[in-house]
Amino acid sequence: MPELTTERLLLREFTTDDFEAVHAYAADPEVCRHVSWGPNTVEQTREFLEEMVAASSRDARDSWTWAVTDAGAVLGACSVTVTSREHRRGEMGYVLARSAWGRGYATEAAAAVLAFAWTALGLERVEATCRPGNTASAAVLRRVGMQQEGLLRSHLVIRGRREDSLLFAAVR
Ligand SMILES: CC(C)(COP(=O)(O)OP(=O)(O)OC[C@H]1O[C@@H](n2cnc3c(N)ncnc32)[C@H](O)[C@@H]1OP(=O)(O)O)[C@@H](O)C(=O)NCCC(=O)NCCS
Repeated sequence: MPELTTERLLLREFTTDDFEAVHAYAADPEVCRHVSWGPNTVEQTREFLEEMVAASSRDARDSWTWAVTDAGAVLGACSVTVTSREHRRGEMGYVLARSAWGRGYATEAAAAVLAFAWTALGLERVEATCRPGNTASAAVLRRVGMQQEGLLRSHLVIRGRREDSLLFAAVR
């Protein structure tokens, strides 16, 4: 998996040594408020990192998740998944530790992953969804050039509650 560099960030593979940094944000209820996973138990964070390490040694993969780092510190994660090879379509997502919010890091990481999706993966359409109340995430998606295309009603179950999603997409 290639490393991606931006002005301030290095996006690299996760290792099991990242446990403490990942668990700090993945167990934070405020970070998990609008996503269907978490707040993580220790075991769930371990499983996440084990899956990341296993994925890194697979030849054929359709999902890439980078550790978003600044000066060696893990701030969060950013990923892209190919949802249809035939239609060259993918989906993007990201998460940052609360201490890293409001500094443009998510925008910087998402822009780099989107560029990877166009050039390295040859995708023609990349989608992302966010909960209507997640204005910070919607702003990130707009800043990287995505447009809101619709509202997916009753799209996810988040801790027992059915939630709508906004559908965003960028087209090459
Ligand atoms: C969604 C999430 C990643 C957004 O993080 P964020 O810090 O708000 O987004 P950015 O890192 O791009 O920061 C943008 C803010 O930093 C400011 N900023 C500072 N320096 C900046 C720079 N160099 N470039 C861009 N923005 C900059 C911007 O003005 C912007 O503030 P504003 O939204 O008030 O205008 C974060 O809230 C998060 O991790 N949430 C929990 C997980 C989650 O919800 N993930 C998404 C699921 S859909």
